[in-house]
Amino acid sequence: MSSKFIIIILSIFSFNNLASAMEDLTIEKLKKTYKRPTQNEIPYPKDNLYNKKREDLGKMLFFDPRLSYSNVTSCATCHNPSFSWQDSLPKGVGFNHQQLGRKTPTILNLAWSENLFWDGRAPSLEAQSLGPIQSAKEMNLSLDKMVSKINRIDGYKDAFQKAFPNEKSPINETNVAKSLATFERGIVSGIAPFDKWISGDESAISESAKKGFMVFNSKGNCDSCHSGWNFTDNSFHDIGHPDSDKGRINVIPIASMEHAFKTPTLRNIDRRAPYMHDGSLENLESVIDFYNKGGIAKRPSVDRNIKELKLTEQEKKDLISFMKTLTSDDSHLSFDIPTLPTN
Ligand code: HEC
Ligand code: HEC
Repeated sequence: MSSKFIIIILSIFSFNNLASAMEDLTIEKLKKTYKRPTQNEIPYPKDNLYNKKREDLGKMLFFDPRLSYSNVTSCATCHNPSFSWQDSLPKGVGFNHQQLGRKTPTILNLAWSENLFWDGRAPSLEAQSLGPIQSAKEMNLSLDKMVSKINRIDGYKDAFQKAFPNEKSPINETNVAKSLATFERGIVSGIAPFDKWISGDESAISESAKKGFMVFNSKGNCDSCHSGWNFTDNSFHDIGHPDSDKGRINVIPIASMEHAFKTPTLRNIDRRAPYMHDGSLENLESVIDFYNKGGIAKRPSVDRNIKELKLTEQEKKDLISFMKTLTSDDSHLSFDIPTLPTN
């Protein structure tokens, strides 16, 4: 065998080795960017620090239908823990069975979210929480009436006193908002197979899901918006959805915000169909087909990261296998429904 031939063989061999070593490095580097925070790293704001009694009170209020005019609708009616904190309807249904304008989003992992609602119009969980109570289409209860209703329930007097021990008359709208927000910050998605894989368990997810993770981060370009452990950049984009809802531009009047909506988390995504702000995409297959086409509406505000992807059928399947690994199997089951005070 000529020495030239041996060198060629050797260099092909080492090139392949080098290429796969580099691929491993890329995967390892990528995995690091998806590492989740621990439960004790949940951020709480300075003016509403974590307090167990406040969280317990917030949980009661979240599940209490008496926070509505009709006494039948609670926050949990729409943000139902059995459906990963949404209602699985294309659009929410509120007071007198009226259909709302948008799909009910999950409230998972919102401690890390700066702007609430699909269009980001609420600056904090505290600011957001009193909105649905007062909204005529949702719970339809004025804040004055809410406070007097709560005041008539003895069990709540004690719960508010414990949650706000330094206050003389703690039953007021500010403290309802603070308690609801404290409860919501604790709603964090559980450890999913994906997290186990990230921490080194190679058998935690299938080979197809591993390939899907690479498609997600390369050809699919999904990570340009669904980035980090919570799979969101906490920003707003027009992805080319064809409905008439103008989204974020109603809050921030700049052209690129026309039809822009919040990038949702992809945690527990296979439990949260139908998808998008208008609930118009029935399943994950239709979501992938939508992105594969580069969206539907073609207009100047569409984000530059939305373009035709030319994914193969196998790549589409791999992407879906990957997204299914983001579901934690235990989080909703281990959730106890609170006992509410009745007098
Ligand atoms: C009738 C159904 C319904 C009820 C009741 C309801 N919500 Fe919602 N919720 C929605 C819908 C729909 C949206 C999205 C609205 C939008 O973006 O314009 C939403 C949005 C939210 C968001 C923002 C999520 C995000 O990703 O930005 C939070 C937080 C939230 N609701 C908490 C609550 C709380 C707390 C209560 C009770 C006080 C409550 N909701 C009651 C349907 C409901
Ligand atoms: C330019 C930013 C951007 C890119 C790129 C992007 N997304 Fe999205 N994604 C969004 C936004 C914004 C929404 C919500 C849009 C809406 O409701 O109209 C969304 C919604 C979704 C939803 C539905 C979530 C829900 O709760 O309803 C899924 C699933 C999803 N994207 C997966 C993907 C996948 C997979 C890719 C890659 C093929 C991808 N996204 C690429 C920004 C992006």
